[in-house]
Amino acid sequence: MSRHDLIKAIAQSIPKRRREKLRVAVLVSGNGSNLQALIDYSKRFDSRFEITLVVGNNKESLAYKRASAAFIENHCVDHRQFPKKSLFEERILVHLHEANIDLVVLAGFLRVLSRSFLERYPNRIINLHPSLLPRHPGLHAIQKALDARDDIAGCTVHLVDEGLDTGPIIDQQSCLVRLEDDLTTLTKKIQTLEHALLPGIVQDIATQVLKRPFTDFA
Ligand code: GRF
Repeated sequence: MSRHDLIKAIAQSIPKRRREKLRVAVLVSGNGSNLQALIDYSKRFDSRFEITLVVGNNKESLAYKRASAAFIENHCVDHRQFPKKSLFEERILVHLHEANIDLVVLAGFLRVLSRSFLERYPNRIINLHPSLLPRHPGLHAIQKALDARDDIAGCTVHLVDEGLDTGPIIDQQSCLVRLEDDLTTLTKKIQTLEHALLPGIVQDIATQVLKRPFTDFA
């Protein structure tokens, strides 16, 4: 499916509510630079989405500071504090539900979500991955591209399914891998691509949703 068709399909899965902007939650585990790119885009005058919730699973993440600086509700839900994965996920789901979230974005979120979690937001969870999927799924994707001596690397935004980085691909951006590139330089190149790709896709989904007629009058 093309980017356009997939974005339309995602938008169809999001109930259209009487609101000015799509309400987006971002789940993170790390530095949160992609969260920051989303926040920055959401502040643009033409943005059709707002980041209304940030959930991290790692208390060291910078994401909470970034969210707080932008006055965004944020929570740390540390998976290690829960005896069962289902309880960890349930806590996140409560936050998503209470914040009335339309779309969930995984931006460097290092947990695999279960089928029952995904079923609560069918077709409404997207993930960012630092490789040209289906090449190099899983952790350390950039190092894998270097080890494989790939000529081209990049990033992918895809719909989340139960597999590890296996869902339908919405779009990708690529860059050349130079002989002199190392993990630091290639990561920088890929992150620059990510910071443009991800907010653009969220904006396109939001635009499609907000174009549709209302399905409730709340
Ligand atoms: C990104 O490279 C993303 O592709 C991967 O994890 C990284 C997160 O970076 N899934 P940041 O936390 O957004 O800076």
